[in-house]
Amino acid sequence: MEKLAKTWEELEQQCKNCRRCSLADTRKNVVFGVGVTDAEVLFIGEGPGANEDEQGEPFVGRAGKLLDTMLAAVGLSRRHNIYIANMVKCRPPQNRDPLPEEQEACIDWLRAQVSLLRPKIIVCLGRVAACRLIDPDFKVTRQHGQFLEKNGTLMMATLHPAALLRNPNQKPEAFADFLALRDKIGVVCDHTALHFEDEV
Ligand code: URA
Repeated sequence: MEKLAKTWEELEQQCKNCRRCSLADTRKNVVFGVGVTDAEVLFIGEGPGANEDEQGEPFVGRAGKLLDTMLAAVGLSRRHNIYIANMVKCRPPQNRDPLPEEQEACIDWLRAQVSLLRPKIIVCLGRVAACRLIDPDFKVTRQHGQFLEKNGTLMMATLHPAALLRNPNQKPEAFADFLALRDKIGVVCDHTALHFEDEV
């Protein structure tokens, strides 16, 4: 990769021109990330789906709506106080899991985002992010909601919102993770002001 940009704008521009793997051939848009660029909490999903590819923004489909609802319930939102990115920035065809080589080709973009953001807490949304970023043997169904420290950053994984759409009976478990996250933010974050939409 060329020398990594030192600002969000430059990095996004570089990323949008990326052709490091064959997902570049089928994408409509690079889905770089969205949110507040001094956020203390970073959410990382798997990769764009059809809606995200179309709009160039992470989590804008049905799973994204559910994610936004759960975030809003604990005072978090992409507009006010978090950043959301994905393991891979381009849509894998037919919504398959990103291949290990696609994740490898893309990981420098995420590393650069983490370097710029320096988050206090990283939340992995689902198995793909948790296995790549926390532990290859991570079992999301058993270990979700547990915080652990890695290189000075707190890491936690929760169930992927798309999995919750398939298994709505798991929503209370996932929501408990969001409550635990809210509490942890209160302990370790300096400037994350929780934001509730009905506040004036
Ligand atoms: N699922 C993901 O993991 N990321 C998105 O951006 C959308 C759906």
